Amino acid sequence: MLRTIARTTDVAPGHVRAFEIREQGAKAVGKSRIPLLRTIGPGRSRGTRITLANVAGTLFAIDDTCTHRGCSLGDGKLDESTVQCACHGSRFDVTSGAVVRGPAEDPVRSYPVHVANGEVQVDL
Ligand code: FES
Repeated sequence: MLRTIARTTDVAPGHVRAFEIREQGAKAVGKSRIPLLRTIGPGRSRGTRITLANVAGTLFAIDDTCTHRGCSLGDGKLDESTVQCACHGSRFDVTSGAVVRGPAEDPVRSYPVHVANGEVQVDL
């Protein structure tokens, strides 16, 4: 099911940003500056959260929850097509969700992205 979760301008090239999917649309999630809050912080819900990554103008969508200990990958840093988790340094390929470097062992799910009229749609 295609869901519109952002505008193309919401994620600058070379950056990642988390979005929480809600019944009515989606909302950008702010980055946590305090490490503990990256997993249990205010606003963290059990709803679906997607991280969008902008790799040189192309957007990719992956699950926001790191498979190591659940930190938000939206708090991470993007290096070309690899996002590094801010908590313990696991790296994931944003184009596929594959683990590039541990400690995470399992991939994150990736989702097809469609862009239409400046809106980013993710096939959930
Ligand atoms: S929670 Fe992401 S590397 Fe540990």
